[in-house]
Amino acid sequence: MSTEQIPQMEGYGETALAEAFNSLVEEVFASATQMSPEEFRLHWLGRKQGRLKLISDAWLKTAPAEARKSLGIKFNELKLKIETALSDDGESRIKTKGEPLDITLPGTRRTIGIEHPLVRTSREIVKIFQAMGYSVATGPEVETDYYNFESLNFPPNHPARDTQDTLVIADQEKKPLRERLLMRTHTSPVQIRTMELEKPPLRIVIPGKVYRNEAEDATHLARFQQVEGLCVDTNITFSDLKGTLDHAMKALFGADVKTRFFPSFFPFTEPSADMQISCIFCGGKGCRKCKHSGWIELLGCGMVDPSVFGFVGYDPKKVSGFAFGMGVERIAMMRYGVSAVGQFYSNDMRFLEQFA
Ligand code: PHE
Repeated sequence: MSTEQIPQMEGYGETALAEAFNSLVEEVFASATQMSPEEFRLHWLGRKQGRLKLISDAWLKTAPAEARKSLGIKFNELKLKIETALSDDGESRIKTKGEPLDITLPGTRRTIGIEHPLVRTSREIVKIFQAMGYSVATGPEVETDYYNFESLNFPPNHPARDTQDTLVIADQEKKPLRERLLMRTHTSPVQIRTMELEKPPLRIVIPGKVYRNEAEDATHLARFQQVEGLCVDTNITFSDLKGTLDHAMKALFGADVKTRFFPSFFPFTEPSADMQISCIFCGGKGCRKCKHSGWIELLGCGMVDPSVFGFVGYDPKKVSGFAFGMGVERIAMMRYGVSAVGQFYSNDMRFLEQFA
């Protein structure tokens, strides 16, 4: 906006006048916020070179006789606005569209966001292990075949790979298998990445997103989240694993919860186990939620297989360790009584607001 020029009138009809004066009013308010009060006064009301005088002289000169009266009224209104802007103190000179500012009106409040229930659950799990001296490690979601499978003792073509089918990055056929990229199927590759970088002893928790070729239903999604754990030191035994997880489950679900361990299989742990907790809904008596068994399966775990240590240069004769991995959605569903896992990803405010 050039403030030096005299704006051209498009005519002296009602709409042309209204338009011309509206833009002048805007110019007044804009300059009121940009100039000091004294500059502003001189700029608009200066007796010889003041903008109000220059414009009114120019416009009145060319105005037909019948338009003079309404022009005069408009200029008086404009002058009043300039004077009001001047009489107010600095801040209240800032006005919009000529509306006076009512500072007694309530402001626009922005609602404060909350953690997503999955973020909250993941952080709570991580915190429980941090309190036991674990630190947090993370790694890439796009992973190589080597870190996701081979170094975790899934040899090429091993049937255990079928249980963790996933999305693969396109056009990789020319690369050797171990370098091919895929969406990681579990957080376990971060065990390897961390052991490659650090010497034992080691205690880490690994939160993160993982991907699998799943037929989605009320309890399965093709993308979900895990919290993994790894502890390596001298003389780590299965009792340490049991004690650590039992403590974590009591911290998470309450002191009454019991744990038990069943033989299972993972290529990177030996022995491997599935851990169950006593049903938090019926206390173990048996209900629909626990399929009347009194127990709910919650995570996979085991003692780190010596061949995994071989991949990272740890000496299995000197150190031993345990690892575990759990699904965040499943734990969040239990804690918050959510029956369909898809709710967490629906972005439905009515669902999310319940966690505020
Ligand atoms: N990575 C395994 C899974 O996703 C879980 C697991 C982690 C099992 C660590 C044992 C030890 O199924």
